[in-house]
Amino acid sequence: MKSECEEAIRNVVERQGRLVVLTGAGISAESGIPTFRGPEGYWTVGAREYRPEEMATFAMFSSEPREVWQWYLYRLGVCMKAEPNAGHEAVVEMERIFGDRFLLITQNVDGLHLRAGNSPDRTFQIHGNISWMRCSVDCTGEVFALPDMVRPKAKDELLTGAEESALTCPRCGSRSRPHVLWFDECYDEAHYRFNSSLEAAVNADMLLIVGTSGATNLPMQVGSAAAQRGALLIDVNPEPNPFSAMAERSGGFFCQGGAGAILSEMVAILRG
Ligand code: OAD
Repeated sequence: MKSECEEAIRNVVERQGRLVVLTGAGISAESGIPTFRGPEGYWTVGAREYRPEEMATFAMFSSEPREVWQWYLYRLGVCMKAEPNAGHEAVVEMERIFGDRFLLITQNVDGLHLRAGNSPDRTFQIHGNISWMRCSVDCTGEVFALPDMVRPKAKDELLTGAEESALTCPRCGSRSRPHVLWFDECYDEAHYRFNSSLEAAVNADMLLIVGTSGATNLPMQVGSAAAQRGALLIDVNPEPNPFSAMAERSGGFFCQGGAGAILSEMVAILRG
């Protein structure tokens, strides 16, 4: 890491600044979870292959609910087999160091940050969590853990009739849906902490962006808001991307490489 970057990080610690960490699929890549845009994202319904952008929609859920659930239960299996890695552990350590001056905004639905030990109160899962479900007709805003009898699936494994019956809203009995944000839906505060994320960005002294390609709306808004308010932006990614450009434009840094090694190095700097 460049000495100027180290110095800027130390400066934030010395003045007791607020840290916001924004993560994407890249932080879980070292746990073996494919990043979002890899070939594993494809799914077959009938004779057609669908891309995630077509599969992960309320429209597709409305017409093919069984197939959409099957795809999510397959992805659930991939997430459940994975373990948090050095990058996730470093983010837990950052929360320990910054305490109530820490906030994590994650696009990942894999739940690995929570499993690693980040606190639910300071973790905004802005695209939801694949282990949770909610009512598909919004009879309640409540979110429920998936029923125990619903099992993760292998790639072409079908839902059982009993699982389909269990995937219903515990309040009204309508079909339940995965608690994830779909491509034809909008961010909101109640489920996805839209306003709270922007507020955190505006108040951040340092925004650490890890493993995201900058393809989604709220994360880009978080980056711009923090940069406009003069926060230190640091982007960690093996590839240049819109956030690395944003960081460098605003006087911050692009740390090119994998999350595990670079975040562990940062924790050592934060500990002083
Ligand atoms: P992407 O799959 O778009 O991008 C993954 C990023 O991780 C890329 O920029 C890679 O260069 C980077 N990367 C790969 N390996 C890495 C490593 N070891 N360490 C650090 N970075 C690494 O995933 P996201 O940006 O998270 O949304 O995608 C954002 C959203 O797009 C997803 O949450 C999903 C999708 O649409 C919804 O489903 C709503």
